[in-house]
Amino acid sequence: MEEKVAALNQQFLNASAEELLAWFASAYLGKIAFSTSLGAEDQVITHMIASSNLPVRIFTLDTGRLFQETYDLLDITSKKYGIDIDTCFPEASRVEGMVNKHGINLFYDNFENRRLCCHIRKKEPLTRALDGMTVWITGMRQEQSVTRSANNLIEWEPRMQVIKVNPLISWKEESVWAFIREKGIPVNDLHAKGYPSIGCQPCTRQVQPGEDVRSGRWWWELPEFKECGLHKKD
Ligand code: ADX
Ligand code: SF4
Repeated sequence: MEEKVAALNQQFLNASAEELLAWFASAYLGKIAFSTSLGAEDQVITHMIASSNLPVRIFTLDTGRLFQETYDLLDITSKKYGIDIDTCFPEASRVEGMVNKHGINLFYDNFENRRLCCHIRKKEPLTRALDGMTVWITGMRQEQSVTRSANNLIEWEPRMQVIKVNPLISWKEESVWAFIREKGIPVNDLHAKGYPSIGCQPCTRQVQPGEDVRSGRWWWELPEFKECGLHKKD
């Protein structure tokens, strides 16, 4: 698989994100899914998929702790583009068990609890959402954090056993926003209020101008630990 992935990276070295998405959508028909958190990058990808009518399943992981603004954008986006965005929920019994054992705000107590919450609310639903898929599209960018600087355009994801495609991996933040403005893409109202990267409400806060874009995520943890398990490398 490593060889195949290296060849694909070579093949798409100079391709646009739109060309990349179109090729994968047709090569992996029925086996390709895009996970959207409704973040700025994800909105760009949703626009590319929807405006070209690409046959890609789009899903979001509703942890139950998202911002109201994110739910509003979910609704606005599916209506604007006339698309289904499948909403995947965590297992209710696992959430109940976790909350009743560790408390509703367990993530602030220690790293293990934070990882447990991310595992139950995000990682396990992601695993179910990708079941039967061969390709997983994400909106990750290298520039977002130290944990992502070594990520590639196309990668083998051994934990999920899928080819992970990150069409915007080398995009700069300015290019994301220029594309959004040019195409009139709807975005989360929170971006204009100092939230460049938006996850769950209790684990996301505003950042100051000039601060790292993901510094408002799990702000009490060190940068090298700031992954929720969706993208963590073993
Ligand atoms: S996170 O892992 O720290 O939460 P981030 O918010 O930067 O990730 O998003 C990176 C990519 O992970 C997104 O482009 C999207 O593909 C995926 N992702 C993150 N959160 C979700 C979510 N709640 N639902 C679906 N996909 C998500
Ligand atoms: Fe839980 Fe916070 Fe992770 Fe959301 S980001 S799943 S609330 S620990």
